[in-house]
Amino acid sequence: MAQWTSVMGATRLARLLGSQRASGTAGAARALTPLGPSGEGAPEAGGHGSDGGAGAEASPDAASSGAVSSGAAPSGFARAADEASGRRTPAYRALADGVRLLILEGRVPVATRLPAERELAGALGVSRTTVAAAFEALRADGFLESRRGSGSWTAVPAGNPVPTRGLEPLPPEAAGSMIDLGCAALPAPEPWLTRSFQGALAELPPYAHTHGDYPAGLPALREALADRYTARGVPTMPEQIMVTTGAMGAVAALTRLLTPRGERIAVEHPSYANVLQLLRDAGARLVPVPMAGGLAGWDLTAWRQVLRDAAPRMAYVIGDFHNPTGSLAPDDQRRDLVAAARAAGTVLVADETMADLAFDEETPLPRPVAAFDSGGSTVITVGSVSKSIWAGLRIGWVRAAPEVIRSLVAARAYADLGSPVLEQLAVAHMMNGEAWAGAVAVRRERARGNRDALVAALREHLPDWEFTVPLGGLTLWARTGGLSGSRIAEAGERLGVRVPSGPRFGVDGAFEGYVRLPFTIADPLAREAASRLATAADLVRTGAVPEANVPRSYVA
Ligand SMILES: Cc1ncc(COP(=O)(O)O)c(C=O)c1O
Repeated sequence: MAQWTSVMGATRLARLLGSQRASGTAGAARALTPLGPSGEGAPEAGGHGSDGGAGAEASPDAASSGAVSSGAAPSGFARAADEASGRRTPAYRALADGVRLLILEGRVPVATRLPAERELAGALGVSRTTVAAAFEALRADGFLESRRGSGSWTAVPAGNPVPTRGLEPLPPEAAGSMIDLGCAALPAPEPWLTRSFQGALAELPPYAHTHGDYPAGLPALREALADRYTARGVPTMPEQIMVTTGAMGAVAALTRLLTPRGERIAVEHPSYANVLQLLRDAGARLVPVPMAGGLAGWDLTAWRQVLRDAAPRMAYVIGDFHNPTGSLAPDDQRRDLVAAARAAGTVLVADETMADLAFDEETPLPRPVAAFDSGGSTVITVGSVSKSIWAGLRIGWVRAAPEVIRSLVAARAYADLGSPVLEQLAVAHMMNGEAWAGAVAVRRERARGNRDALVAALREHLPDWEFTVPLGGLTLWARTGGLSGSRIAEAGERLGVRVPSGPRFGVDGAFEGYVRLPFTIADPLAREAASRLATAADLVRTGAVPEANVPRSYVA
């Protein structure tokens, strides 16, 4: 069931279709087109009334001549599809493919009410018959639902299993038979971790004489974290910090505090799969907000509209090397998003888990999102040592106004009570000495090397997969050459490579044409993984993959 219904105006839809054309993604829509009576070639007999039918518009229509009526968007859908496939495509089909791709890629969320046919025809400079035929084709394929007199809503075809399980890591002993690309986490940076625990053990005795319950976190770690924020230009007191069980513990605690069941929470689309699942489990209604294309960060137009129309209680964003796309939101977007959230009364939860993993140390990083929150009540920051140091520490934190921290701490009494003392001491030890900088440097170096190995291996073995190379973080978001990411994941599992498919990172079944790949392996394993994925893609392309548990509505 869709989480949130929204409305899309004709001009915006035309603009999205136009940018799709400009970025050359129309071909992917074609490749993901389901086979079926309306899937290929001319429209089915009688499907579009007797007014000449959409097929009659294949060549003389303004769409196929590329004419633009309103200036809102270049049309040329037929031409776009022609270029991609080398053959003539009816204008209505190209338009339907374009809308389908927007849905599959999460740019138009499921349950969005599309503009009326006449309005869309005007904005695109095509005839109303073309739009009517495109809507009819989308309905036949399950991507549109219409109710007489009240309009048409986007949908995903019934029967598509949307993966909702978390991405459990495989046990380390599985490494011999399976290359696990499911988890974006690296081994510990040694010798720094061991040394820090040795230092922590030396500091343990006075704590061992206490009851050991520190629901807000050890004072020494709260202070070290506050000092780090202050040094980054966001003055912070220890009373503004609560230590949590990883960033996941922080997001869970904030969700419990801020959003009663049934509340709306806005999320980037795509977003980090485990947080999406956590929010769903907490009973939230997710409001997906598309990311800007490539690595361009947030789409502020979309964010302003969602914040205004849905007025979500909370929004969860990853501005720093976003998981899964790797994008880094620039300063101006951070400023504008904070202002829009403040105006809407939305609490902006900024997850900085990946913030330390910038590969190019020369380029200055944007300021923390909290730096743009002068009032201090709009932005709540979530952090973690999982990517900077090691996920095995299970140490994260929340930075918020002192009264929010007090409420979180009070609520902890009936959640997990606190975080382990020795791990907190180890992290404080690192932060107060040289170990932190040393460990983070080891991490960055390793992640950057892995990224380069992965990119080279993909280019060699899967040249038709498209992606933008991130400048940091741990993940790369790859478009799988028009094939179903779910099927590639399914085939890969049998070939000894495990990769999460795109829909895990989406709401309501978007991103079928993607997989996420982490920077966790080096050569020769990266080449082996890419080679197995290429074999998986071949199996999918040739139809050799049995169809168990994969969406049926996507070709290949
Ligand atoms: C953006 C983001 N937030 C949170 C997490 C999980 O963090 P933790 O291990 O601290 O719970 C991850 C892990 O991949 C992540 O990418």
